[in-house]
Amino acid sequence: MITINLNGADVQVEEGWTVLDACKFYGIPVPTLCYNDGLTPYGACRLCIVEVGPSENFRIVSSCTYPASEGLMVRTHTKRIIETRKMLIEMLVSLCPQSKTIQDLASKYEVTRVRFKPKYEDCVLCGLCVRMCAEQMDAKAIGFVNRGADRKITTPFDIKSEVCRTCGGCIYICPACQLRCQGPEPPGVLCNSCLNISYPCVDVHNNVMCYMDPCGACLLKEADEKRKESK
Ligand code: FES
Repeated sequence: MITINLNGADVQVEEGWTVLDACKFYGIPVPTLCYNDGLTPYGACRLCIVEVGPSENFRIVSSCTYPASEGLMVRTHTKRIIETRKMLIEMLVSLCPQSKTIQDLASKYEVTRVRFKPKYEDCVLCGLCVRMCAEQMDAKAIGFVNRGADRKITTPFDIKSEVCRTCGGCIYICPACQLRCQGPEPPGVLCNSCLNISYPCVDVHNNVMCYMDPCGACLLKEADEKRKESK
């Protein structure tokens, strides 16, 4: 066991834990988006940022990838962290305002305005689908390509992957397409956490985020509609 200082209190944590592991163990809420317990941390969304020391100047790091070490000082809720997290959520909302997961984060962390122009992207490049496919499904059917503004997730050569087993794992875990915000037309990009749940799939099969042809969720939807018609 090692000792770290978490928000002013000395606490014991296991060697090999990340700072996020420590926060979760001691019940300190830290928002996450690209983190999943069953996957390797990737550090893409930066929502889990905390300040670490010791030093005069505490540094901002992503807690899901930062290892806890003896004597580490961690601050999870300083003004700087709270404001930066809110700005990151604003950026995520502007990227993908139709994501219920992101809208819920905005609501939970009291983001009341979005200063960036909405882009209505289908992907926030969190990489959850890539890791899900590689680590849990052992398929590696999708991956990142290009850099900077052209960075995207796709199949090799942008064609249907031969190793894709249409398991739906990528869609299941995707924060941008697993649940679509179906709330009433919001006055802005923030809809304040609607509770409607829709089918976990994007509308169009050949949408870049839907790698399956057709996906299990779409088949379920079709079956459900047929069942309703036959009644
Ligand atoms: S949850 Fe840590 S960077 Fe996304």
